[in-house]
This record gives sequence, structure tokens and C-alpha cells, in this order.
Amino acid sequence: MDLFSLAGRVAIVTGGSRGIGRAIALALAEAGADVVVASRKLPDLESVAGEITALGRRSLAIAAHMGRSEDIENLVSTVRQEFGRIDILVNNAGTNPVFEPLLKSEERAWDHIMNVNLKGYFLVSQAVARTMITQKKGSIINVASVGGLRPLIGLGIYSVSKAGVIMLTRALAGELGKYNIRVNALAPGVIQTRFSEALWGNPEILRRTVESSALGRIGQPEEIAGAALYLASDASSYVSGQTIVLNGGEAAGAG
Ligand SMILES: NC(=O)c1ccc[n+]([C@@H]2O[C@H](COP(=O)([O-])OP(=O)(O)OC[C@H]3O[C@@H](n4cnc5c(N)ncnc54)[C@H](OP(=O)(O)O)[C@@H]3O)[C@@H](O)[C@H]2O)c1
Repeated sequence: MDLFSLAGRVAIVTGGSRGIGRAIALALAEAGADVVVASRKLPDLESVAGEITALGRRSLAIAAHMGRSEDIENLVSTVRQEFGRIDILVNNAGTNPVFEPLLKSEERAWDHIMNVNLKGYFLVSQAVARTMITQKKGSIINVASVGGLRPLIGLGIYSVSKAGVIMLTRALAGELGKYNIRVNALAPGVIQTRFSEALWGNPEILRRTVESSALGRIGQPEEIAGAALYLASDASSYVSGQTIVLNGGEAAGAG
């Protein structure tokens, strides 16, 4: 299992306080990494940091709003000071305050979603890459969505932001490969978290999602963690610029 070992590595997981981010943070810690979790609410983060230290790793909870560049700068410089290196970045913090057609969406919804979901990923990646370049090694993992590959009804701005994340992944992979920094994305389908409750909590949407899935069910946050561990570790040392879809086989033609 050495291929998947993260012993001695330092990771940052944004949106690490719950859902997919928490599951990824715990999986990275189980594989041996020290893990910093960041989001807006410190008490939730501290509880996850406690779970990570209980696994015998170092952890730090840092409050940061991913739509604010000063918070992002503070996050990355604090990790650099406290840990001396950054090996893995998981851009995962995401938002979607609206569920409506694009034609009805207001400019401030566009600005908010793009700021957090896309500009935030860009700014954290840029700040972390400066440290990874000096190390000549690093792995950046961007949590996108199947909405970045095909628009989701009622989630138009969100889908555009996630398509941007997939292209950001490819563009960064192209620029950073020469420093031995790999950049990849994960594109989950419906995963049962607070964020997606408007989808799985709606019986009609849930029925359609389950019917179109080859596995006949929606996913759980822990089911995203294995792919994140693969991309974070040397098991994926020749993989960059890719997007892994985790949707229960939706496109597999379940009938
Ligand atoms: N669940 C799904 O079906 C699904 C499918 C595809 C992709 N995704 C993506 O997966 C990622 C995680 O979502 P999730 O489903 O795990 O949602 P979740 O359980 O609601 O978690 C969202 C996380 O993001 C943080 N966050 C939200 N807004 C933030 C902001 N402005 N600044 C910093 N942190 C912020 C939250 O913490 P605070 O509230 O403390 O800030 C929380 O830690 C998102 O990028 C989402 O787009 C989810």
C-alpha cells in the first residue's frame, strides 16, 4: 500500500468541516497526512480537526471565506508557517444559494457563486502552487461536479462555475507539470450532503436520479474519498489534467 501512503505530507482541504470535504480530510489523515481544514465556521472545523488528531496526525482549523482573497492569503501563509510545506490541496468549498432558471438569476447570485466556486479555487491554487514549486512536487485536486460536464436543471450558474473548475484544472495542469505538480478534478453526481438536500430531499428528483444510476442509488461522501486519495498519492503519479466522474454509473445506460 506504499503507493497510497501520505506519510509526512501536509494537506489543505477547503470546505473540510462537513460532507465531502470532511470525508476527504479524514481519508487523507488515515493515509498518513497532516491535514488543515478550512471553511467559514470555526466550531465545525475544530470538531473535524479533533477527529484528525485522534487518528494521530497534526491538524489545524482555519476560518476562511473562499470568496475573500485576504482570508485565502492568511490561510496559505499560516499553513506555510506552521507546517513548513504544502503537498496536497483539495479545493472543495462550494456554494449554490439559488435553484432557478438562468433567465431569472440575478447578477449578485452570479458574482457570489463564481467568487466562491471558481475564483476561490483559482486564488488558493495560485498561493499554494508558489510553495509547491519550491518543493518540486504537489497535487491539487479540484472538486467539480457532473454539472460542469452537462448543465443541471435549475443550477445554471453553478454548472457554469463547475465547467470553469474543469477548465481551470486543465489549464493549471498544463502550467504546473514542469514543476512536478499534478492538477486533477473530481466530478461527483448527487452525493447525500446538506448542500444537495434540495435534490435528494425532493422525491421526484431523487427517483429520477436513482433510476438513471447504474448502481440504483445516490452516493455518500465517503465514496468520493477514495478517488481523492488516489489523486493525492503517488498511485496517480502520471495522471494530470483529468476529471474523474463519480456518479454511480449514470452514463452507463442503466436502462
Ligand atoms: N453533494 C453533492 O451532490 C455534490 C455533487 C457534486 C459536487 N459537489 C461539490 O462538492 C463540494 C462539497 O460539497 P458538499 O456536498 O460536501 O457540501 P456541504 O456538506 O454543504 O459542505 C460544504 C462545505 O463548504 C464550506 N463552505 C461553503 N461556503 C463556503 C465559503 N464561502 N467559504 C469557505 N467555505 C465554504 C462549508 O463550510 P462553512 O459553512 O463552515 O463555510 C462546508 O465545509 C462543493 O464544491 C460542491 O459543489 C457536491
